[in-house]
Amino acid sequence: MKLSIIDQIFLLSTFLSATASPTTTSHVSISVNPKTQFQEIDGFGASQAFQRAEDIFGKYGLPKVNQTLVLNLLYDEDAGAGFTILRNGIGSSNTSTSNLMNSIEPTDPGSPSAKPDYVWDGYNSGQFPLAQQAYSRGLQTLYANAWSAPGYMKTNDDENNGGYLCGVTNEHCSTGNWMQAYANYLVQYVRFYKESGVDVTHLGFLNEPQFAATYAGMLSNGTQAADFIRILAKTIKASKLDVEITCCDGIGWDDQEAMMAGLEAGPDPAINYLDIVTGHGYDSAPTYALSTKKKTWLTEWADLTGDYTPYTFYENGGPGEGMTWANHIQVALRDAGTSAFLYWIGAENSTTNSALINLIDTEVIPSKRFWAFAQFSKFVRPGSRRIQATSSSANVTVSSFENKSGKIATQLLNQLDIEVDVSVQISGVKAGVTVTPYITNNDHDLKALTHIKAGNGGLFKTQIPAKSMVTFVTA
Ligand SMILES: *[C@@H]1O[C@H](CO)[C@@H](O)[C@H](O)[C@H]1NC(C)=O
Ligand SMILES: *[C@@H]1O[C@H](CO)[C@@H](O)[C@H](O)[C@H]1NC(C)=O
Ligand SMILES: *[C@@H]1O[C@H](CO)[C@@H](O)[C@H](O)[C@H]1NC(C)=O
Ligand SMILES: *[C@@H]1O[C@H](CO)[C@@H](O)[C@H](O)[C@H]1NC(C)=O
Ligand SMILES: *[C@@H]1O[C@H](CO)[C@@H](O)[C@H](O)[C@H]1NC(C)=O
Ligand SMILES: *[C@@H]1O[C@H](CO)[C@@H](O)[C@H](O)[C@H]1NC(C)=O
Repeated sequence: MKLSIIDQIFLLSTFLSATASPTTTSHVSISVNPKTQFQEIDGFGASQAFQRAEDIFGKYGLPKVNQTLVLNLLYDEDAGAGFTILRNGIGSSNTSTSNLMNSIEPTDPGSPSAKPDYVWDGYNSGQFPLAQQAYSRGLQTLYANAWSAPGYMKTNDDENNGGYLCGVTNEHCSTGNWMQAYANYLVQYVRFYKESGVDVTHLGFLNEPQFAATYAGMLSNGTQAADFIRILAKTIKASKLDVEITCCDGIGWDDQEAMMAGLEAGPDPAINYLDIVTGHGYDSAPTYALSTKKKTWLTEWADLTGDYTPYTFYENGGPGEGMTWANHIQVALRDAGTSAFLYWIGAENSTTNSALINLIDTEVIPSKRFWAFAQFSKFVRPGSRRIQATSSSANVTVSSFENKSGKIATQLLNQLDIEVDVSVQISGVKAGVTVTPYITNNDHDLKALTHIKAGNGGLFKTQIPAKSMVTFVTA
């Protein structure tokens, strides 16, 4: 065997460091095979619902220059994470005070067949101008999602505290069946956006339908969701609008899985009208593929309870740490096969971990969770496909994606507390191709490291520091 200079240097340095401290090195082999392809990626993102869009626009005093900074961090591919998905809340409230999102039909028309009085303020709790700003920076997907129908369409006559849409299986109201009226209403929301120059690409009509929240929300099982999907699909078709249907934003992955049977059932299965199956990560994590051939998206998850850890990539594996989220994203993409991954809030004025970026009065504090997202979103662009990637170590985990121009982005998470030597082999990559590593850990935020040249067979060797994430991007 003839060793290249790089191999010899590598072996020498391995030998030297092994000699110096035998317990602090470990060798890991990574193998990437672009010929074996899996799901297509649609993107990454978050929501600014419940008035959080207004936080970005200075509700709590964020100056203009920092408003631009946040928008660039979230949506600009070069200056930030390049998020391509924004999840809007379709409001069901008759006002937009406090955290409420105002409805486009705030007044009860009296009956399902009465003429609705739709109103459009061109603002939508700050979400409309936010969508414009995001699109101007490269947004590709605007997911409009209703937490609830307006109260007058529901069994409990209230947008809050659960209740069902009047007319779904076993749920009746004295005022009649509001399913068609709700479908018309959702389509009208899309039309208002379209008429104002902004495309809503995806439409969802439930949020966490297993849970009667004190805020806006609506209960449903799979059968009841299916009842409505059939009507919504016909309504969209008749409208000639180009918008895809999602369902059901179950509170956890298991809850969403439990809805699949209802969506698949009957002579006219609702799943045939669905484009994306959506679920959240709260009660159960996305660690396995849902029982569907449709694309799946993880559309909401966050650390809602942990200690504030904006600057911690790794300390003890806490729920808000960067490494924790790097791992959640990698597992969802690799083991659950999701095509998208969305945090709950992108940026908000608070000192909790509910957002990726904390706005504190005038300041902008991107968390390590944000940089963990960016390690994926900046390089795993929409249209990329996940490809086969394996690691010789259970503690240095890997995922890899090939984009439409044949560039490969490979994410390694060194979950060990020692630096490891890695040899990465990407089959099909030619000798001499430049590979750029980007690192995030306690010391760095998406920092570009010195280029590496791939050797024969697409092989290169390098080190990954303890508790770090590195993304290797081929040129
Ligand atoms: C607005 O909605 C709230 C809560 O759903 C309700 O109590 C109130 O009566 C409504 N106000 C009007 C003017 O409809
Ligand atoms: C959903 O609930 C309805 C009404 O209670 C019931 O008839 C139906 O069987 C349920 N569907 C599923 C899939 O559990
Ligand atoms: C903005 O957030 C900071 C940090 O949580 C808080 O101290 C401040 O009071 C907030 N501003 C307003 C106007 O709520
Ligand atoms: C913008 O935020 C940064 C922190 O990210 C802060 O240092 C700076 O002072 C803020 N700019 C203004 C004009 O307040
Ligand atoms: C390595 O990974 C295995 C399997 O996930 C886990 O049980 C073990 O605790 C990890 N070891 C270290 C040192 O992180
Ligand atoms: C593919 O990735 C490279 C490197 O990150 C990037 O420059 C290029 O724009 C990407 N192409 C597509 C189609 O996403």
